[in-house]
Amino acid sequence: MPKVIYVTPSGDRREIDAKAGTTVMENAVRNDVPGIEAECGGACACATCHVYVDEAWTAKLPEPEAMEEDMLDFAFAPQDNSRLSCQIIVNDDIDGITVTIPEEQA
Ligand code: FES
Repeated sequence: MPKVIYVTPSGDRREIDAKAGTTVMENAVRNDVPGIEAECGGACACATCHVYVDEAWTAKLPEPEAMEEDMLDFAFAPQDNSRLSCQIIVNDDIDGITVTIPEEQA
């Protein structure tokens, strides 16, 4: 099972076994990872699932769709490595992906 590692702004790490085909957001919500509210339930319409993807993983992800790009403009403090975690689908190629939750959301 691929792992997803969530890092809080204070540096706490949560390592979660994620089923392939689920999203980084869904695994955060199911496991009560703080700071990922996912108010729209994964419809790419709220930006409350915003995360910073560790640089080692950014190139392994598909480019964001236009809708995700647009919604990231509404995220708190977006950076070049910002993504919406509801749009990141877990699979074996990204086993160990590490994402940091923005301070403003935690
Ligand atoms: Fe709303 Fe990701 S859950 S944009």
